[in-house]
Amino acid sequence: MTELDLDVHHSESDITEQLRADVRAGLEADQKWLSPKWFYDARGSELFEKITALPEYYPTRSEREVLAARGGEIAESSGAHTLVELGSGSSEKTRLLLDALTSHGTLKEFVPLDVSETALAEAAEAITADYPSLEVRGVVGDFTQHLDLLPGDRPRMVVFLGGTIGNFLPADRATFLRSVREVLDEGEWFLLGTDLVKDRETLERAYDDAAGVTAEFNRNMLHVINNGLGANFDPAAFDHVSYWDEENEWIEMRLRAREPLAVDIPGADMHVKFDEGEYVRTEISAKFRREGIAAELAEAGFSVEKWWTDSESRFGVSLARSVRG
Ligand code: SAH
Ligand code: AVI
Repeated sequence: MTELDLDVHHSESDITEQLRADVRAGLEADQKWLSPKWFYDARGSELFEKITALPEYYPTRSEREVLAARGGEIAESSGAHTLVELGSGSSEKTRLLLDALTSHGTLKEFVPLDVSETALAEAAEAITADYPSLEVRGVVGDFTQHLDLLPGDRPRMVVFLGGTIGNFLPADRATFLRSVREVLDEGEWFLLGTDLVKDRETLERAYDDAAGVTAEFNRNMLHVINNGLGANFDPAAFDHVSYWDEENEWIEMRLRAREPLAVDIPGADMHVKFDEGEYVRTEISAKFRREGIAAELAEAGFSVEKWWTDSESRFGVSLARSVRG
């Protein structure tokens, strides 16, 4: 497609270098961990899309309900000329915002940013075709590193959907919120989707579906390390675990070795051992309460202008405005 305009801030070699550094840091630690960023090669992005349609995985449906009901209000409040979407993936739900903002008549440009080049290219191409009046400028980048490079006519609205904010550890979340605030001018907008605290069973099942798609998504990280660093993980030797940590109010996804294992990772110059039952934490997915996220947004320099949930109060969406530098 000729009109597709992708800015690549994250080349293959940067990605391999960061994978190497992350694998070294995470697999040398006493409690092994890996960043959820490494789920999302082309296969991981496809598996995530399958997750969004699973009966157990309610967040996508709940957030979509809010965006469908509130798109008009969001467009009216923000009057955004540019919509910047972080961790955009397929941008499927974002179409509800694009529809509302184009009907409102203000939107000129859409800037989706994602680390997954395949997901981004596919989404940008489809949106370019379906919204001919919009300039679509996809950015292949890392939302923890490349926010200062975002283009766009003012006023802009940055959107961060799906509850991806929950995939940061709390200290990193505060740094990220502050970095979003720093790229915005006073008065510009931030729309944030947050999954909400609820009962253990609903949460653990959302991350351990009966069809086993989330388990495959989790194990995909080992395929990514095998492909990127020439490692010899046997993904089938690890059990998928979904655990609700009530104290921290987050879901933890783990990969737990079924038996003692030794793995070579030549691209990171490592030989890693696992005891039987030892696990790698691959993701946290924090769940929020209204007061908590409002306080975190305020601390970062935003005021929450609107707060909505779906009809079952499962998922919250905050429309916030930047108030000070
Ligand atoms: N926003 C979409 C997709 C959520 S899945 C939705 O609501 O359904 C999380 C997305 O964030 C994936 O597309 C993944 O590739 C992207 N992502 C994960 N870590 C990232 C990072 N550090 N920088 C940029 N994108 C990232
Ligand atoms: C992208 N992110 C918000 C998803 C979540 O729910 O934390 C990733 C995911 N992990 C397992 N299922 C979905």
